[in-house]
Amino acid sequence: MTVQRTALFGALAGALLAAPLHAQTEIKIGYALAAAPDSHYGVGAQRWQEVVEERTDGRYVFRHFPSSGLGGEREVIEGVQLGTVEATIVSSGTLANFVEEAGVFDIPFLFRDLGHARRVLDGPIGQDMLEKFDDVGLKALAWGEQGFRHITNNRNQIASPEDLAGMRLRTMENPIHLQAFQTLGAAPTPMAWPEVIGALQQGTIDGQENPLSVIVSVNLNDVQEYLTISGHVYSPAILLVSPMVWDAMSEEDQEIFREAAAEAVEAMRGFVDEVEESGLETLRERGMDVAELSAEDRAAFQEALAPAYEQYYQSYDRELIEAIIATE
Ligand code: PAF
Repeated sequence: MTVQRTALFGALAGALLAAPLHAQTEIKIGYALAAAPDSHYGVGAQRWQEVVEERTDGRYVFRHFPSSGLGGEREVIEGVQLGTVEATIVSSGTLANFVEEAGVFDIPFLFRDLGHARRVLDGPIGQDMLEKFDDVGLKALAWGEQGFRHITNNRNQIASPEDLAGMRLRTMENPIHLQAFQTLGAAPTPMAWPEVIGALQQGTIDGQENPLSVIVSVNLNDVQEYLTISGHVYSPAILLVSPMVWDAMSEEDQEIFREAAAEAVEAMRGFVDEVEESGLETLRERGMDVAELSAEDRAAFQEALAPAYEQYYQSYDRELIEAIIATE
């Protein structure tokens, strides 16, 4: 009897010690690419987790769903709106379908380089845009980054808009990108990311476009022969939290989530900087035929895009576009 009681007390004490001293909130975080350390989304999500868990003494616990484990980016954003997913890091692919004005950042050849994009997104223009997500049931904490997008395909190397003629090119589900490639004479197909590798393998599309961070992380070289460093558009990412979880937080916890998001962005940018340095060599070594557009080639693409720019100026505030271009 005494032995049984002692065992029972021991078991209870053990269970109490193992139990958390406070309630824990699970943060399911979904993203399209590999877990850390193998993608910029993975390292960003991991840094976000580390900072939040450490500064809240584990009151929030992150659970990762990498590699589109919760579906395509549109579905994940809808999950964040509904509260079935607590957080995500996504590209700007489907963002303009939620906050139309955010599409302005998807205009081709708008940003000069990574530094220019980062200064715009970290400055008043980017920060004001984040606030617009409040109106559509999303809490946007920071702009992350993928890098500049480049074209890969299995048909031919690209030096001029003519080389794109009729090319079945997958674009993100993004009306601005779609319009650009239609204007350039390609045959673009908007497609959710989880379908892309299969479509490339089956040959239902010839190519796609993504930054080096993605091309290297997902080994696109396994299914694509040509890489053209076109840098035709900057590709931002965004860190979103569900209002269901955000509104239930104390102001202190909200501040911690914000600080952690800023650190996550630093980690993502660090990954992007690294892959911008080493990515071309890596992809050459993996057997891709790599070529880079010269300044004149890029100018030819910009010229061919003139009719699309007219549309963009109608859809987006001209002053905003000019303020972005004028940002030093
Ligand atoms: O091409 C896309 O859809 C995006 O760049 C990706 C790969 C899902 C990362 O957000």
